[in-house]
Amino acid sequence: MNLVQPRLGRFGFGADYNPEQWPEDVWPEDIELMKRAGVSMVTLGIFSWANVEPRPGEYDFGWFDRAMDLLAGADIGVCLATMTASPPPWLARLHPGTLPERADGTVLWPGARQHFCPSSPAYREHAGRLVRQLVTRYREHPALALWHIGNEYGCHVPMCYCATSAEAFRTWLNERYGSVEALNEAWSTAFWSQRYSDFAEVFPPRTAPTFPNPAQQLDFRRFSSDALLECFLMEKEIIRELTPAVPVTTNFVGAWHRVDNAAWAGHQDVISYDSYPDPHDEHSHIEAAFTYDLMRSLGGGKPWLLLEQAPSAVNWRPRNAAKAPGQMRLWSHQAVARGADAVMFFQWRQSQGGAERFHSAMVSHGGADNRVFREVAELGAELAGLGGVLGSGMEAETALLMDWPNGWALESNAHPVADLTLREANLSHYRPLWEAGVSADVVPPSADLSRYRLLVVPNLYLVETEVAERLVEYVRGGGQLVMSFFSGIVDGCDRVHLGGYPAPFRELLGLTVEEFCPLPEGGTIGLSGGSGTIWSEWINTEGAEVLQTFAEGELAGRPAVTRHRFGDGVAYYLGTRPDPASMAAILAMACEAAGVEPALPGAPAGVEATVRHSADGTRWLFLLNHNDFELTVRTPSGEVPLAARDVHISPATS
Ligand code: GLA
Repeated sequence: MNLVQPRLGRFGFGADYNPEQWPEDVWPEDIELMKRAGVSMVTLGIFSWANVEPRPGEYDFGWFDRAMDLLAGADIGVCLATMTASPPPWLARLHPGTLPERADGTVLWPGARQHFCPSSPAYREHAGRLVRQLVTRYREHPALALWHIGNEYGCHVPMCYCATSAEAFRTWLNERYGSVEALNEAWSTAFWSQRYSDFAEVFPPRTAPTFPNPAQQLDFRRFSSDALLECFLMEKEIIRELTPAVPVTTNFVGAWHRVDNAAWAGHQDVISYDSYPDPHDEHSHIEAAFTYDLMRSLGGGKPWLLLEQAPSAVNWRPRNAAKAPGQMRLWSHQAVARGADAVMFFQWRQSQGGAERFHSAMVSHGGADNRVFREVAELGAELAGLGGVLGSGMEAETALLMDWPNGWALESNAHPVADLTLREANLSHYRPLWEAGVSADVVPPSADLSRYRLLVVPNLYLVETEVAERLVEYVRGGGQLVMSFFSGIVDGCDRVHLGGYPAPFRELLGLTVEEFCPLPEGGTIGLSGGSGTIWSEWINTEGAEVLQTFAEGELAGRPAVTRHRFGDGVAYYLGTRPDPASMAAILAMACEAAGVEPALPGAPAGVEATVRHSADGTRWLFLLNHNDFELTVRTPSGEVPLAARDVHISPATS
């Protein structure tokens, strides 16, 4: 049970509602249509700052009161945004220093959104003042279900390089390292004459003649995530002081880069996420499944909220596909199947003007008499009937390890390959698990690993010694681990672990890597059981058993995939990126050895099967047919016919 349900008591179903974009005489129709669609909650006020505070310190909450009251009267809960994601134009005029800067010094001017430097005292002060007004005004309001702080922190501006940020970065570094000598040590500044004699000499990694110092870049990512987190916490503190019982969230965006979601997760009462899979990408539902597993795991397995998705097309890709009939329903249930207790959209009514006028909405430019509205209304009714699922969790015996600092460092420059990405690394390991129907959590290195039979570690380039020791202990204690190349290479300051690659895992894996041999762009290398891409390397075994060898070139006959029994467990190592079929075979072998079973053995290809477990012992089996043809699925309680893109949800008591 997450903290929202006691207040809402139903599935969260609705959208971002932006009534300020419409004359007030449209609002009653909004409410009427919301009832028809089964809306239970809307997110209100995300971009309302300029409309409730048109001039500094001058508030106009009248219209907002009326919107809140209308919603309360219709029994629609409000996920109330703190409005601080897009400062009003007067803030930039009054305090030009609130505007963020890129690495090359470009100022990001007002006229879009998110144009604030997170370290700006003026931004924080004005944002805090607004939040205090807002929370004081609505803390007792009957519609209030949940606080929504900011919006997609770091989405457009994950890092600000301005003078204010530079000063804040110095303070942050001083707190982290304590002395400039320690900073020099951590940043390896003996290299290229970078030695500092004072913190005042340090800058953000602004555009430089060539590669900036890797440790400086990494610390700036950490600092930038922390600076945004401070903004979030500043607002949260005000909310906590005034409404201690109302849960708080911020909507996470994308999984890959911006802020360290794992560091932020513990500050959320409930995890929420915005999901925009591309209907033109035939694998986008697999990436969506990965991010849903990540969100569930970030909340410690508790239900999370899908706070935004598109009813049909978005407007920000080069080509914006409409969702096919049934696809919105299918993808909504996919989030529920992986632990969501809310399915919300961006946005309620399609904007007439502004940058998002071609983004789909629950109510389109043409009104509500159309397919999109009919499909969302059907979904609303369907979710209202699924109350038994609320609060239930999922059990996974497999976990995939994901760490943001590792991602930042992995994608840093001046590496053996320039285009190894965290996304590709994770999805190439996750996809075969998804295809095999194996449920997985996606956890940070700090998670309790002992609950998993199998741990998959894609390209853990950066690893602190304590984390490496935890992985070693995990296997020694009986865990099965699959690790890919270029893991265990550097410490938390991006300094190489000496003693032969991958030094912290050498004993665990029973091997050492003598030399990296990346493949040419797009190139492949034959393996004894398939082929590899991106990478190859010169491996010397030190006790590991060779499962596959490279089959061509200078490395022909040398180890490519190995297995090492270590303590009571087993560690597999992949010295290349095997092609999807080979990767699937290797992971299937590891799953079998670990005793990991799919959620529904024998489910047809393209059918996603998951189980949510209620506290009362009910098992909710979700079957999702991602194929555009009908088929039949065999389950323990009989055959289930599924039309193209159809969903079947059935409770069973265990
Ligand atoms: C993000 C934002 C929304 C909206 C949507 C459009 O998720 O939070 O305000 O811009 O994208 O897809």
